[in-house]
Amino acid sequence: MTEIMIIILLSYLLGSIPFALLVGKLGYGIDIREHGSGNLGGTNTFRILGKKAGFIVSAADVLKGTFAASLPVLLDIDLHPLIAGIPAVIGHCYPVFARFKGGKAVATSGGVLLFAEPLLFLLVLLTFFLTLYLSKYVSLSSIMAGVGSVILSILLAGDYITTYILIGFTLFLIFRHRQNIVRIVKKTEPKVKWI
Ligand code: G3P
Repeated sequence: MTEIMIIILLSYLLGSIPFALLVGKLGYGIDIREHGSGNLGGTNTFRILGKKAGFIVSAADVLKGTFAASLPVLLDIDLHPLIAGIPAVIGHCYPVFARFKGGKAVATSGGVLLFAEPLLFLLVLLTFFLTLYLSKYVSLSSIMAGVGSVILSILLAGDYITTYILIGFTLFLIFRHRQNIVRIVKKTEPKVKWI
């Protein structure tokens, strides 16, 4: 039990590292919470600081999820990697290091999935970019990637735990995108120009 508590704490602390805030402030002297959507994530970093910073933040946000999911293997503790990744996703959205105001769960959930189900991750990534190519909305692409992860996990006959956790991730992701959904309906959500 103590070992699982340690993983939960480490995973949450890893997820809480606000890379968008760190890269913005240390690299550019800009607090991206005061710009664009105000979200501490890769998309808002692309929007405000450009491609280089956007790629760095997105990759770092994915990798902290991957690292969190790998903790049971690294520490030799019997725990499903997706379960180990849940606190990291929560930490990314409600980071203790940034007054509990963080991102929208996309990249870090992806990183968790990358470790737990690599093939599923690649198909979900494909779903994301296909939706982005067709719609130009990152937020809609994120939501479709979440929904796609659930459908694909059922089709690929993943275990029930995987499907249930992906349903949880996706419902949480949709909740975090509720303002984006309103903007999409009102046609005021910004579209990306670079794809
Ligand atoms: O990864 C978050 C993305 O789906 C939406 O971000 O900044 O457009 O609200 P943003």
